[in-house]
Amino acid sequence: MDNDKRFVTGLDVGTENVRAIIATVNKDGAVAIVGYNEGKSAGMRKGVPANLTGPAESIDKMLGEAERMGGYEVRSAFVSIGGSQVISTRTEGMIAVGTVEHEINDQDLDRVEDVAVTGRIPANRDVLDVVPLEYALDGQGGIKDPLGMSGARLEIRANVVSALTPNCDNLKKATLAADVKAERLVPGVVAAARAVLTDRQRENGVAVIDMGGATTSVAVYEEGDLQYVGVVPAGSNNITNDLAIVLAIDPEMAEEIKVRFVTGDFDTDKSPVIRIGKEGKTERAFERKEVETVVKARLEEIFSEIRKKLKNAHYDQRLPEGIVLTGGGAKMRDIELFAKKCLEAAVKIGVPQGLGGVSESVEKPEFATAVGLALLAAEQSSVKFTPSKKSAKLPKLKSPGFLKKIFSKF
Ligand SMILES: Nc1ncnc2c1ncn2[C@@H]1O[C@H](COP(=O)(O)OP(=O)(O)OP(=O)(O)O)[C@@H](O)[C@H]1O
Ligand SMILES: [Mg+2]
Repeated sequence: MDNDKRFVTGLDVGTENVRAIIATVNKDGAVAIVGYNEGKSAGMRKGVPANLTGPAESIDKMLGEAERMGGYEVRSAFVSIGGSQVISTRTEGMIAVGTVEHEINDQDLDRVEDVAVTGRIPANRDVLDVVPLEYALDGQGGIKDPLGMSGARLEIRANVVSALTPNCDNLKKATLAADVKAERLVPGVVAAARAVLTDRQRENGVAVIDMGGATTSVAVYEEGDLQYVGVVPAGSNNITNDLAIVLAIDPEMAEEIKVRFVTGDFDTDKSPVIRIGKEGKTERAFERKEVETVVKARLEEIFSEIRKKLKNAHYDQRLPEGIVLTGGGAKMRDIELFAKKCLEAAVKIGVPQGLGGVSESVEKPEFATAVGLALLAAEQSSVKFTPSKKSAKLPKLKSPGFLKKIFSKF
């Protein structure tokens, strides 16, 4: 590995699955994926840790393979955060910067951001991101980048993304227990958007809907900026559970029915009976109509909750580039057709594309968040280049029981 390359890691800690992407960035900023893996998650409820050992162990177990593939031992990562407590809040701030001849500098921008955040976000929330939407100088609005411009009074209109502090702390603790420092926490859907959207879509107006196992999240972009984030506490697992309850079957069978037989194209003629049965077990038959009624009801509920959020944010039916679906739930066949009906917008499936290395293997909607996290980490300029000698070696195997040692510190 050349000296002028550095490693970055994206770690998507979901309710159902954990996924990692290890990538290299060269000095021109070109990103190549060198390691990836996915595994079952544990100890997560509705997008947030319910205990520390579950997520820590699942991250640790899953990362090993990605590390061996990438020839790199992960020490830090950009990590996804979820849960319905991830929200965005519109704020404003104003500061006096001096005389009219004063040229706006970085300190002024930091100061006005501080004013826009301090006291406006409850004390039990961590600010994950402050997105400046617009500045005004001496009352003149519509300014995107005021650096170097002259004025005496600087105002900002911003979108502040925040999450509950205990959720952030627990996620950081869980990743640290797996020997990984969470450099930054990013809402999963925001990371997914980074991986699947084009600049043009972000500029014109678009929403990403990340369909996870236990949560469904939405992020809206316009004029190149993140305008809104919201999370609904229901996801594709709810469909499985509904099927298990209504059909009185175990969740494994319900999952198999969902993945193998359900499509989002409910109106076409299909065989009226779904037959399912593993070798050695008796075959079971289910009425397709009954299955579809259950799935449709849950999907309708989820999309109508998302639509409510879009309405409140004033983006319902106001997105020229439509809606892009990511996450494992977006793998349901023809889901875009049903989403289009419910949301009355153009809908497509988003997959990360156009990266180097082994990126073809992760060109799937469920990898959007992990890839986006790695891309965001690659863009962070302050990250120091990793010394090359570490990269030449395969990762050390962590000693068994190291998790216990780490937990004893808490
Ligand atoms: N082919 C498929 N058809 C339908 N659903 C699928 C398919 N493949 C996966 N899923 C569903 O995707 C969900 C998992 O998605 P994902 O891995 O994105 O969730 P997660 O990130 O762990 O959860 P969350 O984001 O809510 O914390 C599961 O409910 C699973 O049943
Ligand atoms: Mg997810």
